[in-house]
Amino acid sequence: MEAELLGPPEDLKGKDILEIGAGAAQCARWLAEQGARPVALDISHRQLQHALRIGASFPLVCADAGALPFADGSFDLACSAYGALPFVAEPVLVLKEVRRVLRPGGRFVFSVTHPIRWAFPDEPGPEGLSVSASYFDRTPYVEQDEEGRAVYVEHHRTIGDRVRDVVAGGFRLVDLVEPEWPVWNTSEWGGWSPLRGGLIPGTAIFVCERD
Ligand SMILES: C[S@@+](CC[C@H](N)C(=O)[O-])C[C@H]1O[C@@H](n2cnc3c(N)ncnc32)[C@H](O)[C@@H]1O
Repeated sequence: MEAELLGPPEDLKGKDILEIGAGAAQCARWLAEQGARPVALDISHRQLQHALRIGASFPLVCADAGALPFADGSFDLACSAYGALPFVAEPVLVLKEVRRVLRPGGRFVFSVTHPIRWAFPDEPGPEGLSVSASYFDRTPYVEQDEEGRAVYVEHHRTIGDRVRDVVAGGFRLVDLVEPEWPVWNTSEWGGWSPLRGGLIPGTAIFVCERD
């Protein structure tokens, strides 16, 4: 939001904006406050219920990002904060769908955990600074329930894979932003910490445009 990758806040007013993998729809909520007309989409009904509970006052759509239930050219802009793309085996399908529902000249801004993080243990301390896996290993991370059913799957793509996906999805890559850890942020949560944040990027943001 601060980086204004979707454009300056004053230009968002009246824009139709799709948030993908919205979860509790924090981004869509901020967009609505700027006067935009957001639609928040997530595959999880539970997440959307949470969005509703915390006050979403815009359309919430329960659907798969790989099969968007919207007509061609329905949106001016689209965004995703760590949503959908890391969790699908075929991200190009999602990108093609997003391109389809965007109007000509439309922009899609999405973030993923920076692919370099795949190579390091997800620990905030010094143990999170030693390479423990190959950056090039595309084996997905899978968590299973007691019956061996996959309940969480995250796919790894290298930076190069993601750039190729964007292009194969019909977009032009306008920028690739690697936000730096802000000096004022001294908090630790999960594998995130000032120690690691000062040394390795945590997030990669892809700014894409369609013709
Ligand atoms: C890491 S959460 C991010 C949620 C939110 N954007 C945020 O920043 O807090 C990923 C979200 O993507 C959603 N998701 C995963 N696969 C999806 C798919 N194929 N289509 C739509 N949403 C999906 C999940 O249900 C989840 O809400």
